[in-house]
This record gives sequence, C-alpha cells and structure tokens, in this order.
Amino acid sequence: MAPKTLTALVEEKTLHGSFVRDEDERPKVAYNEFSTEIPVISLAGIDEVEGRRAEICKKIVEACEDWGVFQVVDHGVDAALISNMSRLAREFFALPPEEKLRFDMSGGKKGGFIVSSHLQGEAVNDWREIVTYFSYPLRHRDYSRWPDKPEGWIAVTEEYSEKLMGLACKLLEVLSEAMGLEKEALTKACVDMDQKVVINYYPKCPQPDLTLGLKRHTDPGTITLLLQDQVGGLQATRDGGNTWITVQPVEGAFVVNLGDHGHYLSNGRFRNADHQAVVNSNYSRLSIATFQNPAPEATVYPLKIREGEKSILEEPITFAEMYRRKMSKDIELARLKKLAKEKQLQDLENAKHHDQSKPIERIVA
Ligand code: OGA
Ligand code: NI
Repeated sequence: MAPKTLTALVEEKTLHGSFVRDEDERPKVAYNEFSTEIPVISLAGIDEVEGRRAEICKKIVEACEDWGVFQVVDHGVDAALISNMSRLAREFFALPPEEKLRFDMSGGKKGGFIVSSHLQGEAVNDWREIVTYFSYPLRHRDYSRWPDKPEGWIAVTEEYSEKLMGLACKLLEVLSEAMGLEKEALTKACVDMDQKVVINYYPKCPQPDLTLGLKRHTDPGTITLLLQDQVGGLQATRDGGNTWITVQPVEGAFVVNLGDHGHYLSNGRFRNADHQAVVNSNYSRLSIATFQNPAPEATVYPLKIREGEKSILEEPITFAEMYRRKMSKDIELARLKKLAKEKQLQDLENAKHHDQSKPIERIVA
C-alpha cells in the first residue's frame, strides 16, 4: 500500500522500501542531462493555410513518426493562465496532509488527491503525489472532487482545461490531414472526447537513483499535452528502455506525446511514446499532464491502412477493451518478473548449498 502522503518520507535519510525499484528499472540518465533530440516547434502561423501551415505540419508529422514526442511553443495558450495554474498547483501540494486528504481518492473515488498512482496495488510505488480532474465530457464533471483550496483554483482549472482541449483538437487536425483524412477525422473517432488533467508533484527524494517518479509507460489515449517546470525529469526511450534521453525543459512549452489510441488509429505510423519520469534530491518538480482520450465505447481500429500495409489490429475493439488488454498485459509482465526474481534467488540459494557439499580439494582446485 502506498503511504497517504509523501510529506513525512521526504525528511527521511534513506528511501522507504516500498519505493525501491529493481535494478533494471532504475534511472540510467540524470534528470538534468538534457537532450535536444526532441524538436521544439513554433505554432505561429499554423492557421495561415497559404503560409507556414504546411511547414509546421511537416515538422509535427516527422516528430510523431520519429519519437512520438515534440514540444510546442507559440501555441496560443496564455502565459498568465499557465503560470497561475502552476502556482496554484504548487500551493495545493504545500498544504498540510489533512487538507490534501480531504480529496483522498484511494478507495476508487473519481478525481482528487492520491500518492503514487491511480493504479493502486502495484508492487513498487512511484515517488509522486497527484491531483486528478476528470474535466471532459462536461456532463461527467463532479465538482465535489475538485479541490477548493487554494482559492480560485477551480476557475483557473476550468479555463486551463478548455484551452488545452482547443489546442489538442488543433493538433489532431494536423495529424488527420497527414493521414490523408478530413480535419475532424481523429476527433470524430474519439466520439465524445474525454479529458483528464493530472497534476504530478514529485517531492525531493532522499535516494533518487533507486526509484522513479513515474515508471516507464505509454499513455493509453490519443494525445497528451504536458506542461513541465524547469527542473527536468521527463525521459523517453525508443529501444525498450535500454537507452534514455531527458527532455529539455522549455519555458512555456507543452510537451506533446502520442498515446496508444493515436498509435493504433495511424496503423503504427505515429509512435506511442515510451516514457518515464525520474526524480532528484535537489528540487521538487511539478508537471501537469492533460490526457485527451476517446470515449470508452469508441472504436479502436486504424483509420487509414496504407498501400502494402496490414492492419496492426486483428479486429476493431472498443477503447475500454483496449485499455483492459493493456492492463492485463502489464499485470502479466509484473507476474513473470516476480517469478523470474524468485527463481534467481532460489538458484542462488541452491548453488550455495551445492558448494558447501563439495569436497574441499575440488573447491581449492
Ligand atoms: C504522465 C507522464 C511525465 C512527467 O503523467 O503520464 O508521463 O514528466 N508524466 O511528469
Ligand atoms: Ni505519461
């Protein structure tokens, strides 16, 4: 079980055991060793059909084929709104534990505060606290699960969520066109676009080399827009976790990454970014992830299969089913990993006993 908040654990000299990861999952690259591989794309002029639009779209599409990640600047979301949103979020996480726990979502509540992950029951915990807002569709909004402190945060989050919905739809238009489809194709495939705003707070960590802020994953949805502060910690891999790069923080930019739904709809042409977040002992870090997902009943199947290609999905499934399969695969992998670890320990144990029973001269020789 994850602790209720991380406030007390931050003061400890050694990392609480429930956050210690197996060696193969631990960070390989420092949180502040930045790479410039991920392109930073200005959206200025994206609506000028005769002007810069074609050039901007080309860059976006290349990035989606390459890493499934890019950053956008000049995106039209007001800088004051972004800074208010970040400031209020930081103030929330600085509140005393009992205030944060008024919105405790352990026990399955839809929205609010929790430590580590929305997927509880993982063997190792993530070193983060989160607040989740289920923001779209509007008819599903439950304001009783939206923290009412600090004052004004609800109104700012409403505006933030609306502006990010607009930006996400604009980016999905670009990807639809790149697939040779009408502009609305990807948003329509989402049926009734769902949005979840997750604010990640990664406190300073006593032993950051042993743990992760957020373990390696792909986002399940269509597209994610991430706002991060200047500390650094978001990492991506293209080779199954052998090598990693740390995404360079850019003031006021959104890191955009594609999720599994976007990957399937493009028949694998656009990559679902494989990523994680690392932590450090110098600074706490804040990031705000806005997930744009299809409705649970939306169909997941390639919208376009190019000449000579086969569908990467055998049959159309619903997004709810896609998500269920993803989760059961994750659970199966965790089970296999646990088994392998137990076997390794057992083999080691057996070898020890075996050695002890050998005649002395054989060991000396
Ligand atoms: C996420 C995520 C990365 C970060 O919330 O899904 O990938 O840097 N966050 O916080
Ligand atoms: Ni993610």
